[in-house]
Amino acid sequence: MDENETIRTIKSRRAIRDYDTSKDVPDDLVYKVIEAGGFAPSAENQQPWRVIVIRDKKLQEFIGQIAVERTILLFGRATPREELERRLDYIKSKASRERTIDILISGERFEYIKGKPETYGAPVLLVLAVDQTHVGNSQATLRGTGGVYGWSSPRHAVIAGSMMMENMSLAAASLGLGSCVSSVQLDHFDDVGAVSQKLGIPYPHWVPILCLTLGYAKNERTLGPPRQGPEEIAFLNKWGTPFVKEGKK
Ligand SMILES: Cc1cc2nc3c(=O)[nH]c(=O)nc-3n(C[C@H](O)[C@H](O)[C@H](O)COP(=O)(O)O)c2cc1C
Repeated sequence: MDENETIRTIKSRRAIRDYDTSKDVPDDLVYKVIEAGGFAPSAENQQPWRVIVIRDKKLQEFIGQIAVERTILLFGRATPREELERRLDYIKSKASRERTIDILISGERFEYIKGKPETYGAPVLLVLAVDQTHVGNSQATLRGTGGVYGWSSPRHAVIAGSMMMENMSLAAASLGLGSCVSSVQLDHFDDVGAVSQKLGIPYPHWVPILCLTLGYAKNERTLGPPRQGPEEIAFLNKWGTPFVKEGKK
């Protein structure tokens, strides 16, 4: 199939972690990104999402510091260096690869979430929260009883929220904005509680699951971790039979 603009945007979007701090993102663009997010599908069209737009530097610093500390624990202590080298072997320059590993294990890589100019921070941080009692909300008797029909409400909410997040990151890319989805500051229950309390999120009914930084990229970023092709990730009719398109067999 010929590439069209949508597919080109999807394929060229990259996680941006260094922002041009001389450029703010006007509310008008933030609005467009969130609006596009809201067009994502959701079970029963319940739209179980809320987005908090964070421009307050102190709040960005609070959330960014959690990311830095968790990263030090995760990559600095728990992940062997050889594993990081393996994951980053798509970076051909040894010096760049080593630098990327160093900023990962020191937590420096997540300074950008704090929005500080000296670390090329993003001017805007979006926090996405989803309604854990999602499925069943429209029927009073089922409220909060996800699982009655074998459904999992939290699962539905996370699925819909993830689709909403992807819409936002693609909309941002289409508008010329850089963005980066992040979860490291929300992976641990303690951090979810702390962030919820700080932002007034009525947790655990609503739970923050992901963040998205928004800003203009400092440098163009084209190189990214490689993707597996359909031949590797798709099967025809049955698990294990590779899906190979006509002409490639
Ligand atoms: C659920 C999820 C969680 C992620 N968490 C983080 C994160 O905590 N910090 C970060 O810098 N990037 C995070 N990312 C971004 C990925 O690292 C990035 O998308 C991936 O390495 C592929 O690179 P690309 O987006 O440039 O193609 C996350 C992405 C997803 C979908």
